[in-house]
Amino acid sequence: MQIHTTIESLRAARAAAGKVAFVPTMGNLHEGHITLMRQAGERADAVIASIFVNRLQFGPREDFDKYPRTLAADCERLEAAGVAHLFAPDETVMYPTPQQYHVDPAPAHVSILEGEFRAGHFRGVATVVLKLLNIVQPDIALFGKKDYQQLMVLSNMVREFALPVEVLPGETVRAPDGLALSSRNGYLSAAERAEAPRLYRQLTAIRDAVLAGDRDFLKLETMAVAELAAHGWRPDYVTVRRRADLQPPAHGDAAPLVVLAAAKLGTTRLIDNLEI
Ligand code: PAF
Repeated sequence: MQIHTTIESLRAARAAAGKVAFVPTMGNLHEGHITLMRQAGERADAVIASIFVNRLQFGPREDFDKYPRTLAADCERLEAAGVAHLFAPDETVMYPTPQQYHVDPAPAHVSILEGEFRAGHFRGVATVVLKLLNIVQPDIALFGKKDYQQLMVLSNMVREFALPVEVLPGETVRAPDGLALSSRNGYLSAAERAEAPRLYRQLTAIRDAVLAGDRDFLKLETMAVAELAAHGWRPDYVTVRRRADLQPPAHGDAAPLVVLAAAKLGTTRLIDNLEI
């Protein structure tokens, strides 16, 4: 695997790479990322990954400084997964001057769910992803469903700006006990890690109830929030939404649904979702 730290070097490699599938990441790679790399490899001549911890998408009180940076271990995993090129710029390459132009996603898409609790997060995500797509110019870009709202926002950005790239979703990868893999799981204490799968169990319970015909979403959501709170969590939301735009389903709405949740366990904020 070749490691590129400059835009020029990455672009020269890309030009010779044929059909390219791109997987942007912030590093600290786990099996969820590696599954995306393998999926990418099946769809293209070469896989390009990126590792860049993007300051723009972190709030002032969030974990930018302590976000795990594990480049050496990440490179080993990427190499083993058959990734051809890694773009690993530092901030002086990505933001040589403070970024003054930003992508503002649709307010309806970012004033809800994660956007309600993380002001400016999706603006930072969309801005860096547009920049990364312009640098790499891939044929395909892959994003995990674990960040369901991110996937929705970025798919809409690509469509509305007619960016010449196909967005492919990747399935969430889970630990055997159901916990969705995430770099932030590393912040959990042993006791919190043992408790953490409850979030997925609550999502599963809601999905199963809806599939069995229960359409009283508010009751199901309220029960899940209470159950989490009773076990020491501080839930931000547990909510059934339409998959396409993440708005609440109207009465009698037959649109495909997803149940999404975010909750704090100790100081760690976990998110997860499950399509219904
Ligand atoms: O999902 C992530 O890891 C990040 O939000 C992304 C898409 C790499 C942008 O920084």
